[in-house]
Amino acid sequence: MSIELIRAHYGFSRAPFGKDIPPQALHPYRGHSEATARISYCIAEKMIGVITGECGSGKTVAARAATSALDASRHTTIYLGTPGVGLRGMYASIVTALGGMPRFHRAALIPQTQELIATEHAERGKSVVLVCDETHLVDAEVLEGLRCLSNDGMDAESRFSMILLGQPTLRRRLHLGSLVALDQRVGLRYQVAPLDLAECGSYISSHLRFAGRADTLFSEDAVALIHQVSRGLPRMVNNLCVQSLVATFSAGKAIVDESAARAAVAEVSAE
Ligand SMILES: Nc1ncnc2c1ncn2[C@@H]1O[C@H](COP(=O)(O)OP(=O)(O)O)[C@@H](O)[C@H]1O
Ligand SMILES: [Mg+2]
Repeated sequence: MSIELIRAHYGFSRAPFGKDIPPQALHPYRGHSEATARISYCIAEKMIGVITGECGSGKTVAARAATSALDASRHTTIYLGTPGVGLRGMYASIVTALGGMPRFHRAALIPQTQELIATEHAERGKSVVLVCDETHLVDAEVLEGLRCLSNDGMDAESRFSMILLGQPTLRRRLHLGSLVALDQRVGLRYQVAPLDLAECGSYISSHLRFAGRADTLFSEDAVALIHQVSRGLPRMVNNLCVQSLVATFSAGKAIVDESAARAAVAEVSAE
């Protein structure tokens, strides 16, 4: 079934429930706003923050919202999105992002990374913001390496901020003995709350509005079922909504009702 047919059926100007939503079109549900505010605070105060939440709860989106609002002449944001690269890979990504050529030996790479972060501040007046995503999958060794970067050797002025994003297991991992030094430096923690029922309704409406439909397209009972099955997790809400739109289109209907939402649930849980 072509996405074009669906678009035409509903009169969407763009495909709804997509990933690429500009910051100003994001839905400010409580979990999103609170996570974004905390990330901004950590950056302003040059702290380490830990943002946890279930898969698809909106962590990466919140970090993107917070960093895209920064004054680019005063911040350099480095996004570390590949958790499996290891300690060398992580340092090398930071060095490369700061315009350096990563030194070969680890013993040289650590001071090089620290120096570049300090230089970025001292010479360009920019403070580095490290966003480490999927941190629940990052090795303890790499986490320890990140902590080293925030070490006392650097003067207070050049300190940088570090935002660790990850699934809820990250919180427990940080409490483990080997990571206690990092855990103690964490200045702020927040667990992203899922959408409640009312937020789920307005979340769906806001995605539809962004796609060009400002009127009511989902019935209340369809929203209630989608909220229940998704447990309020935005990515899951998106998947169920897309499937519901397809089911409604196939049934030749105009409004997404509960039976369409049920068909969507069956589709998604069969995957
Ligand atoms: N504030 C928001 N407004 C609109 N859509 C959102 C918002 N937050 C999350 N989403 C949607 O949910 C999806 C999953 O969010 P994401 O941040 O990738 O989750 P996580 O990083 O927690 O796994 C995004 O691709 C986006 O479509
Ligand atoms: Mg993510």
